[in-house]
Amino acid sequence: MFRPFFTRLVSCLLMFLFLAPLFLLAQDLKTIQLKDPDKKRGLPVMEALAVRASVTEWSEKELSLQDLSDLLWAANGLNRPESGKRTASSAMNAQDVDIYVFMKDGVYLYEAKSHCLLPVVAGDHRSECFPPRPPRPSQPGQPGQPTPPSPTREKETPARPAKPTGQQPPNPLVPPPPSAMAPAQPQPPLPAPVILLLVSDISRFRAGSDELKKEWAAIDTGIVSQNISLFCAATGLGTRPRASMDREKIRSLLQLKDSQLPLLNHPVGYKK
Ligand SMILES: Cc1cc2nc3c(=O)[nH]c(=O)nc-3n(C[C@H](O)[C@H](O)[C@H](O)COP(=O)(O)O)c2cc1C
Repeated sequence: MFRPFFTRLVSCLLMFLFLAPLFLLAQDLKTIQLKDPDKKRGLPVMEALAVRASVTEWSEKELSLQDLSDLLWAANGLNRPESGKRTASSAMNAQDVDIYVFMKDGVYLYEAKSHCLLPVVAGDHRSECFPPRPPRPSQPGQPGQPTPPSPTREKETPARPAKPTGQQPPNPLVPPPPSAMAPAQPQPPLPAPVILLLVSDISRFRAGSDELKKEWAAIDTGIVSQNISLFCAATGLGTRPRASMDREKIRSLLQLKDSQLPLLNHPVGYKK
């Protein structure tokens, strides 16, 4: 029991030294050794498929270390150590999809071989890289919105002079009652406790045109994405695949190479 843990720890440390220049940005963060995946966890696959659905709101409850460990292993972990193969298939077994994990304290890179999280950048970058969608303007006729005039009704019924109501005209020195004021602006939703960013590095494909490599990258990313969605559906977590994100910010924050394509992100948290 002690030996595999020790080997993994050493392999994490070696990987850390290898990627040291990038990690200078993450001086405040430490490598997180993940727990062995709980392979007995969750609904059977058919029941998970029956409840899978994208969600848009997450509670503030944090994921436990076991949740995070199982989520990442399910997403693209090592499931056949003897061949180094993963839970997600990839074209030519290029294993091109990396998972960056955005959390409150910083961004980490999932290292499947040693099943650990390597620090990349300290600080909370969730809202900056994955800005929430601006709230949709409420529809006319909804509370707080004027009902548009109906052109047919206007034609049919000529406007009548307003009946005296006995009410005083509004006094400009007295603030209007709260009901008459503009409706409060909705607050942007809180980011999910964890956002997984799927980045394909197309330089890992040993053959093929650039166009073909981008096609494989998108397919491989979709396979990891579905692993995440099914794991969440099976374990009561909520997620949603999203293509929308601030790619420029992400590129400069993570110092991505031109061959690294951020393709999808998955907020993950307990459902509200
Ligand atoms: C490739 C892809 C990109 C998506 N991008 C976004 C996105 O940027 N924002 C978002 O809110 N949902 C996004 N979605 C989620 C879809 O809107 C959602 O899957 C769809 O409405 C079907 O709902 P369901 O997942 O519950 O079946 C994306 C889904 C996929 C597969």
